[in-house]
Amino acid sequence: MTYASHEALAAAIRSCSRCPLRREGGLGPVLSTGPSDAPLMIVGEGPGGVEDDYGGPLVGPSGQLLDKALLSVGITRDHVYVTNIVKCRPRGNRTPTMEEGRFCGSIWLASEIALVKPKVIVGLGKVALRFFLGREAGIIRSRGHWIDYHGIPVMPTFHPAYLLRQSGRGLVDAKWQVYYDLLAAKEKAAALSPDWVWKSDTMPNLLESLTEERKRRHEGNHIS
Ligand code: URA
Repeated sequence: MTYASHEALAAAIRSCSRCPLRREGGLGPVLSTGPSDAPLMIVGEGPGGVEDDYGGPLVGPSGQLLDKALLSVGITRDHVYVTNIVKCRPRGNRTPTMEEGRFCGSIWLASEIALVKPKVIVGLGKVALRFFLGREAGIIRSRGHWIDYHGIPVMPTFHPAYLLRQSGRGLVDAKWQVYYDLLAAKEKAAALSPDWVWKSDTMPNLLESLTEERKRRHEGNHIS
C-alpha cells in the first residue's frame, strides 16, 4: 500500500497487530530514523532490547557499531534512513524467521520503500538478505554482491551483531568487508543523488532525539 506521508505510514505501523510478534512482549513497533527522502536506506533485522525501549532502530550496541562504520565512509546517521525488516521485537532477542521477515517486510518495509524511494539499500545480515533475495541464502557468500529488488540495487553486508561476535583476524577481515560494502553503496547512491549531503559536523544524539518516542511507548500510548 502507498502512504501519502511518513506520519500516515507511522500511524498505520503503530496500529498493526497482524502477526503474533506484536504480542511477544515488546512495547510495540519500532519505526525508522532519518530523513524520508534519503537516497540510502539501511535495513536491519528487528528491534532488540534497547531499540524496544527507545523506539528507534539500531540504537543499541549493534547500532553504535553501525554508526562508526557509517562514519568511516563519511556518513552520519541523520543523513540515512534506517529501519528494520520486522518492526516488533521477537521475544528473547531471537532472530526473526524468514516467514516473519517476509510477512512484516512485505507490508511495512515495502510501504517504506515506496514512500522513501531510496536509490540504494544496504541489507544488514541474513534476515535482510533473504527478504530482498526472496529465498534462503548465506550472508558469507552473498555479501558484497548487488541484488536487484524491484529495480533498486541492494548491497547485502554483515550485520553489526555478527562483527561484535568476531575476534582477531576474523574481526579485522569482516570490518574491512563491511567498509567496502558501505563504500560501494554510498558511492552508488551519491552518483544517483549528487546534491545529497552525507554528513553533519557533529554526531547526532540519537537517543536524545528519541526521548519523546520513548516516553510515549512507556506510557502505553503506542497501542491504538
Ligand atoms: N538489530 C537489528 O537488526 N535492528 C535493530 O534495530 C537492533 C538490532
